[in-house]
Amino acid sequence: MKGGIQKVGVAGCGLMGSGIAEISAKAGMDVVVREIDASAVEAGRGRIESSLARAVKKEKITAEERDTILSKIRFVTAVEELADRDIVIEAIIEDLEIKNELFGKLDDLCGPETIFATNTSSLTVTDMAAAVDRSDRVVGLHFFNPVPVMKLVEVVRTIATSDEAFERTFEFARALGKEPITAKDNSGFVVNLLLVPYMLDAIRQLERGVASVEDIDAGMKLGCGHPMGPFTLCDFVGNDTTYRIAEIMYDEYREERYAPPPLLKRMVAMGRYGRKTGIGFYDYSGDQPVPVAV
Ligand code: CAA
Repeated sequence: MKGGIQKVGVAGCGLMGSGIAEISAKAGMDVVVREIDASAVEAGRGRIESSLARAVKKEKITAEERDTILSKIRFVTAVEELADRDIVIEAIIEDLEIKNELFGKLDDLCGPETIFATNTSSLTVTDMAAAVDRSDRVVGLHFFNPVPVMKLVEVVRTIATSDEAFERTFEFARALGKEPITAKDNSGFVVNLLLVPYMLDAIRQLERGVASVEDIDAGMKLGCGHPMGPFTLCDFVGNDTTYRIAEIMYDEYREERYAPPPLLKRMVAMGRYGRKTGIGFYDYSGDQPVPVAV
């Protein structure tokens, strides 16, 4: 395969997949995004449209540019539509079996050159590479939320990734306007290895009654210059997501620092996922978020 990546496939159009599809189209690439059914497609399209509407309102792009970006994205439900892509980035549920089922199908459908990238935040890329025939063309490509805003992408290689596939993916990340870093294939890569224990520690502080949600958030915002305190961040990432990531990392390392604290488990059991369900450590039903008693 010659030249840079131009034909991008994105599997999953949730929070991360929609952002990846949007920035790929914004970079001028031809994008096919696949969701499982028509209603998931409509929800994904809606996410991209509202993100672009926000950019138009802020005068970052014109209405014409928005239309051009949207015209570069084709929404599909059939996995076969991803067959001719230079790269397929999966951003589906954080479940190894489901990811491997998808990669298995793609392995049969796509040409031998197609690179398979995973946006996993905590699973190991090797566990996906080992399940396909093209292990040398499987990489991690980990984006951060909100994808259009955060500059970082972690590009992850396994012991089987070829130099060529890695370099093409790294260049692709640059072509998207991101600043890629290289990470070894260990659960959590660079950022989540540091960030997840930090969020879990904040929850442990709360469990111990060290300070309130508001004060812990204010402490890290004002004392360390973080854009968000840890509880605002937990609600932003999604408590269900953080719980799942912590479980995977704990399973990988068997170290207490990755173990999800009981309070996080209770929050998830109650559906208090954060912004996406309207309630987490804060209640988002009013004009301003209000801390919730836990
Ligand atoms: N899409 C597009 N643009 C967005 C956006 C979105 N969803 N959300 C915010 N923005 C843009 C705004 O338009 C604004 O741009 P300008 O300054 O150019 O006008 C800018 O971002 C700042 O936004 P706001 O003024 O609305 O709000 P803010 O100042 O509070 O910033 C934030 C919002 C960018 C989310 C900021 O709070 C932040 O950086 N928070 C930390 C986010 C973070 O840590 N993300 C990583 C999570 S971990 C992860 O993703 C990995 C994992 O595997 C779990």
